[in-house]
Amino acid sequence: MKTIYLDYNATTPIAPDVQTAMLPFLAEHYGNPSSGHALGRACHEATLDARAKLAALLGAERDEIIFTGCGTESNNLVLKGLAFRQAPLGSGHFVISSIEHPAVTEPARFLERLGFGLTIVDCDARGRIDPDDVAAAIQDDTLLVSIMLANNEIGTIQPIAEISKICRQRGVLLHTDAAQAVGKIPTRVDDLGVDFLSIAGHKLYAPKGIGALYVRRGTALEPLLHGAGHEGGLRAGTENVPYMVALGKAAELAGQHLSESVERLAMLRDRLQQALVDACGPKCTVNGAGAERLPNTLSINIPNVDASELLARIPELCASTSAACHTGQAQRSATQQAIALPEDVARGTIRLSVGWFTDEEEVDRAANLLIGARQQLR
Ligand SMILES: Cc1ncc(COP(=O)(O)O)c(C=O)c1O
Repeated sequence: MKTIYLDYNATTPIAPDVQTAMLPFLAEHYGNPSSGHALGRACHEATLDARAKLAALLGAERDEIIFTGCGTESNNLVLKGLAFRQAPLGSGHFVISSIEHPAVTEPARFLERLGFGLTIVDCDARGRIDPDDVAAAIQDDTLLVSIMLANNEIGTIQPIAEISKICRQRGVLLHTDAAQAVGKIPTRVDDLGVDFLSIAGHKLYAPKGIGALYVRRGTALEPLLHGAGHEGGLRAGTENVPYMVALGKAAELAGQHLSESVERLAMLRDRLQQALVDACGPKCTVNGAGAERLPNTLSINIPNVDASELLARIPELCASTSAACHTGQAQRSATQQAIALPEDVARGTIRLSVGWFTDEEEVDRAANLLIGARQQLR
């Protein structure tokens, strides 16, 4: 039974070239980048190169890239890093959206418990945030607006460049959680107009356990980890050289293949969508339809079935019901609630996400398996 992996939004496999690039740093290149000797210097050079590659993908400067342990840490560093600079603690206000990943929502809620203000901006039925609603949410004491670039469940892309204009006019910093966007759509920080941008390595063909944060020059944050001053003083701890090298290589590959892969992924996704909609009829709806969406993401509502039961019947297909972190939960996810997806419709939601190693044959097989399993269940 050959596995069909259509869960690239949960995590990606490590690309073979990424693995090749990182392996020497798990073996012969084991120096500490802070050591002055040859082994240390070789590792230091490798971290500089990885930083430069990631910076190139984002159109940033090398010293604006901070390596972290994951996308969650990057998001925490922005929100708490700004909050912890406030005196007295608790003075200031944050704006986030109702469809953020818990890696933004939870630190924001934590800061709210410490006394900070928090406004959560709603999205429309397609999962899109209206920039005017962001403008209305900004207060005199707003420290940060944090809106994700693309949603992990339904793929809606947010109008970050428009939101940026508002933030600039109002003198408010802007963060975007781009964990799902980097490598799938252009993510140049100056085009987006963001001050901070979060990256998760394992959504970009690098291993789990590495992330990065773009921090615009001249923007001050308090570190979460105080120590020996690594990562420009923002994230102490001896560098994870092999994983940094991996993320650097992944960023290089993403930059090289971006335009071609956007088209290919959209073609595969659309083929899958069409096959399912044709087979399941007009009640089969697509979340985020009508909005700009990630080219690889299909969140589809299969009518009159329970999505978990459907997927359980197809063990060779790896896909999610909504987001990987919500699988197994009976209630609707925050995104499903935010787009006001009725409970009976949300019961049948499946998230299928294609990636670099998906081909047409897999997509066709997945569609046939889903259609067949649905017929068995009905
Ligand atoms: C939009 C978004 N932000 C943040 C994260 C968290 O990233 P990590 O798993 O690297 O902590 C995820 C992972 O699912 C995500 O989809």
